[in-house]
Amino acid sequence: MIEIKLIENNKKDFLDLLLLADESESMIDRYLERGELFALYDNGLKSVCVVTRESDELCELKNIAAYEKWHGHGYGTKLLNYIFSYYRGKYREILVGTGDSPWILSFYQKNGFSISHRLKNFFTDNYDHPMFDNDVQLVDMVYLKRDLQGE
Ligand SMILES: CC(C)(COP(=O)(O)OP(=O)(O)OC[C@H]1O[C@@H](n2cnc3c(N)ncnc32)[C@H](O)[C@@H]1OP(=O)(O)O)[C@@H](O)C(=O)NCCC(=O)NCCS
Repeated sequence: MIEIKLIENNKKDFLDLLLLADESESMIDRYLERGELFALYDNGLKSVCVVTRESDELCELKNIAAYEKWHGHGYGTKLLNYIFSYYRGKYREILVGTGDSPWILSFYQKNGFSISHRLKNFFTDNYDHPMFDNDVQLVDMVYLKRDLQGE
């Protein structure tokens, strides 16, 4: 049975998963404590995500990851749908920033996000080494938004 828990203590216990989505621990430290961490269990831990409050109207998905062995099993989508319901009525919109990689953009677009804006050279300016996703070098950060009302 799938269970999703809000984790309030010892959030660093989930660092192995969080590092799959954001390879810099110092970047993770900037949002993990103030963020809400959700963990999905299905016969053991499979996936996590972190959401922060950005304003009265806006929250941001800072991290979402599933263990590599379990990619493509629907856990990421389940976690997204859970947080959409969880934050409906609390915020108007949810934002996510990601590398400019076609499959990850399509993952978010399939889940109702649409492209909002870009931060030019985010990955080249903020990380001390080149970042890649399946051989594609990440340069810009692409922001996508999704409405949380009206469903
Ligand atoms: C992003 C992530 C959380 C998605 O979770 P998931 O449980 O694998 O996603 P789902 O099974 O719900 O798949 C959703 C869709 O994305 C596609 N997809 C998932 N992983 C993919 C991959 N590595 N390559 C191509 N497509 C992929 C699936 O085909 C699926 O589409 P479908 O439903 O039409 O078949 C997971 O792939 C992951 O942990 N990736 C590494 C960390 C990361 O990059 N996080 C995002 C940072 S912004």
